[in-house]
Amino acid sequence: MLPDHGRPVTELLAELTALKEADLPVRGGKVTAYVYDTGLPEVHEAAQRAYAEMLEVNMLDPTAFPSMVALERQVVGAVAELLGRPGAPGIFTSGGTESIMLAVKAARDARPGATRVVLPVTAHPAFHKAAHYLGMEVVPVPVDPVTYRASVPAFEAALDDRTALAVVSAPSYPQGVVDPVEEVAALAAARGVPCHVDACVGGWLLPWLREAGAAIPPFDLSVPGVTSISCDLHKFGYAPKGASVLLFRDAELRRRAYFASAAWPGYTIINATVQSSRSAGPLGGAWATLQALGREGYLELGRRTLEATRRLAEGVAKIPGLRVLGEPEAALVAIAGSPEVDVFVLADEARRLGWFLQPQLSYAGIPANIHITVTGVTLAGVDAMLEVIAEAADAARRRGPADVPEGLPELIASLDLDALDDATFAELAASVGIDLTATAEPGTAEPGTAEPGTAEPGTPAEPGMAVVNAVLDALPAATREAILVRFLSVLYS
Ligand SMILES: Cc1ncc(COP(=O)(O)O)c(C=O)c1O
Repeated sequence: MLPDHGRPVTELLAELTALKEADLPVRGGKVTAYVYDTGLPEVHEAAQRAYAEMLEVNMLDPTAFPSMVALERQVVGAVAELLGRPGAPGIFTSGGTESIMLAVKAARDARPGATRVVLPVTAHPAFHKAAHYLGMEVVPVPVDPVTYRASVPAFEAALDDRTALAVVSAPSYPQGVVDPVEEVAALAAARGVPCHVDACVGGWLLPWLREAGAAIPPFDLSVPGVTSISCDLHKFGYAPKGASVLLFRDAELRRRAYFASAAWPGYTIINATVQSSRSAGPLGGAWATLQALGREGYLELGRRTLEATRRLAEGVAKIPGLRVLGEPEAALVAIAGSPEVDVFVLADEARRLGWFLQPQLSYAGIPANIHITVTGVTLAGVDAMLEVIAEAADAARRRGPADVPEGLPELIASLDLDALDDATFAELAASVGIDLTATAEPGTAEPGTAEPGTAEPGTPAEPGMAVVNAVLDALPAATREAILVRFLSVLYS
């Protein structure tokens, strides 16, 4: 809480360091989601220094701070050059979600009356969020059950005059495969529908993988019919968080994303993004990362990432009870289990060994799996990662599947969660081993568990997230969502 007297900076920093001890490590490659590590500390240091240098510049008013206009032009220009349309107009945003929000808004305002967003079931929830915020409707289309790529015939059937935007991913996050961008964009163009490519995770990765020898299908603004594309620099651009670029085919469409207001007696508002006042720190950090690595740096990271992804996929295929879903084209690998190897138990066992592997719940006929985002740092530890996966799979086989309390999913599904008070919800969480007084997110950490690597694998007494994930997995998506909202609400109460 607020102290009566100001405290010295050394004390504050020590407190932050202590608080962060419970966090997952952001460097080193043992956390296979959320963080992107080049393995090159000097690059991240350059970014941090530039971030701090630009921290207090307010991007609210470009006439007051021309430095940020110059930096944004350079950063957006670099992305446009890499993504098939040098000079394409763009916007620097705070992340994938904001880029997607603005792409959906631009499409909506470009086609008055059209309110539907047609997307594959594997598309990122940011599109559902955008549709929710913008008063639009999502029309999901299935993916091929073997390749996990969006079904072109399903798109063909779904696109019509009510469609404001067709969406494809390059690649999708869950299985790391590139949707059939050329086919869907052509179908959309034939109906006058804009088409957005979500290259949030792949925009600054796929071109380098292609140059390093991977077979990457066309996916960017050079593809006829693609009208906008999002590319997060805080993912495979390796920039600090808060950095994404949204590109448009033309400036007219970009203007639909902007917002201006003179409807008050204060300063005039002209915003390119959802946020109004915002720090230029992330822009400085992104610019410095691009400059510190350069073409050669990114190509080398692309080579390492490609090699690590291949070795990981080949190694996993040799572990009994595990298989890679689809044929990942980028650096995102989904590993499914089997009746003998429960992936949620595997994730707990890996965590015990000091590694975080991200659980993904089953959805739309796609089985539950473990997600690994391979980054520049992964190659150096890929053999260790494979050993951990094999050991965790062995332990999971010995332990057997997570024990879901009899009837619990059915009970939860029948509850009116809104009618429960926080204390009763906390009790419900405790019944699956979640202590809501500890700070952790479901599926991402283990509240109250021992230090990773300290316990014997396969020790069943240790609490973990396997039961929670298994219970969530057994629930319909709408109930999962209601539970997650309650979880957050209780966590912050
Ligand atoms: C394909 C894809 N799109 C959008 C997003 C959302 O990005 P952010 O978390 O930066 O909002 C992600 C995040 O993982 C993603 O993988």
